[in-house]
Amino acid sequence: MTTKLTITTAPIAGQKPGTSGLRKKTPVFMGPHYLENFVQAIFDVVGTRNPDGSGKTFVLGGDGRYFNDRAAQVILRMAAANGAARVIIGQNAILSTPAASHLIRLYQTDGGIIMSASHNPGGPKEDFGVKFNMSNGGPAPEAATEAMYKRTTEISEYHIVESQDVDLSKIGRTALAGMIVDVVDPVSDYAALMETLFDFPAIRTMFAGGFRMRMDSMCAVTGPYAVEILENRLGAAKGTVINATPLSDFGGMHPDPNPTWAKALMDEMFGAAAPDFGAASDGDGDRNMVVGAAAYVSPSDSLAVLAANAHLAPGYKAGLKGVARSMPTSAAADRVATALGIASYETPTGWKFFGNLLDAGRATICGEESFGTGSDHVREKDGLWAVLLWLNILAVRKQSVAAILAEHWAKFGRNYYSRHDFEAIASDKADAMMAALRGSLASLPGHQLEGLTIQAADDFAYTDPVDGSVSKAQGVRIMFEDGSRIVLRLSGTGTEGATLRLYLERYAAGPDGLDHDPQQALAPVIRAAHALARIEAFTGRVTPDVIT
Ligand code: G1P
Ligand code: ZN
Repeated sequence: MTTKLTITTAPIAGQKPGTSGLRKKTPVFMGPHYLENFVQAIFDVVGTRNPDGSGKTFVLGGDGRYFNDRAAQVILRMAAANGAARVIIGQNAILSTPAASHLIRLYQTDGGIIMSASHNPGGPKEDFGVKFNMSNGGPAPEAATEAMYKRTTEISEYHIVESQDVDLSKIGRTALAGMIVDVVDPVSDYAALMETLFDFPAIRTMFAGGFRMRMDSMCAVTGPYAVEILENRLGAAKGTVINATPLSDFGGMHPDPNPTWAKALMDEMFGAAAPDFGAASDGDGDRNMVVGAAAYVSPSDSLAVLAANAHLAPGYKAGLKGVARSMPTSAAADRVATALGIASYETPTGWKFFGNLLDAGRATICGEESFGTGSDHVREKDGLWAVLLWLNILAVRKQSVAAILAEHWAKFGRNYYSRHDFEAIASDKADAMMAALRGSLASLPGHQLEGLTIQAADDFAYTDPVDGSVSKAQGVRIMFEDGSRIVLRLSGTGTEGATLRLYLERYAAGPDGLDHDPQQALAPVIRAAHALARIEAFTGRVTPDVIT
């Protein structure tokens, strides 16, 4: 027997979802009514019933971090009590973010709830998160997340079923208080989608010919996906995928695929016995880092190379409709778009801004400097997708990653690029620094420093070309006459104080005579940024915590 209960509750302060849903420390999420209040706010805003009274269908899954399994049972009970007709859930409540986005679209559902704090560490004392994706498979837009937040400030009750746990270990259909629960294999539909996009036989032939790869799944969600696709379907050597078992604390790793956190992979790729290709992905599988033997590929360059070569993969052989990048991402992809004669778009930070462009058929490939790349096959960035597109390109071009990069730079020029992060700054200090910088923008054009002349400076504002919505104050841009650029913004995803992100870029056409280490090439731009923003004076920081 199951009983539907209505529980009296009261608002909990601070349940404000950011660009990637609501992220908090796990103990906060496990606190009384915390998860329940937020889930009820989601259901209240998106609705659990269709206009004809029938119940809606949702997808549910997460990256396997601590509390994922318990939260899934709560969300199932609440979906049932709120009148949903059906929930499609990954076995053991596991789904990577891109796989969840795909299932939402494939089964034409009314959206989905993803349990993840992405690349943030997981565990009893680390981070947990919940986000809602719409029926197009993409993150809820700001209007929806704002409405959810508003609802959390008014909530007075939530609905939940009293029942035993649903057995999520067995694939198949069960029921919970009249709601259908379909437990599905988290990997198979996603792997089938990848087979439609990429030339699996060509990649298989490459692996059979001795091509060696290392994939670091960082004890996070992509392990089972990578083993099935790379080792089982494409014939990569057994053991190609390391840290392949998702663990609730990610084995203590920080599952963020960048040179700092995926250091073991970087060491291997720059070592004597380096494989031909290396890759890593994050907690929920939407981010990727790719690296060749002794050849690191910056995410901005990766986006540009993928855009320039996508037509080599079956899913993109008709060419691209357009390329979109977030504002802080380097302009390398724009140069490719210009050469291809296709549109390029510059959006604010965050994947949700790509959704409209993808839905409207204006862009096919999108990317961010923060190790996110994806296409119109889903409405999230997709780590393994990027890895497979690179493999497809390598299989067709039969060149090394280093050679492909070198040819790319020779043809398009090189956008030297780096991001410096200053973490856990006191929020008031970071805010004061940004306010002072914003206040100085009008006086900057014409100003010279470090041998560079400032051409323009602004606070990036974006008008969505599809729906006309305007997003203001998305980050300070300082553009120099030689094409160099400085961008500063505060992170919207941190959970502790403020994180300052400083993005640095310098363009060199053809063979450039600059030192080819990006930090060296960018040295004058870095000095200019510190001088202009007075980072040390405001925050006391000189050295970044993370350099990517
Ligand atoms: C960060 C990245 C951004 C990405 C987001 C979600 O946001 O910089 O590109 O979309 O994570 O993965 P930020 O912390 O900078 O607001
Ligand atoms: Zn992620």
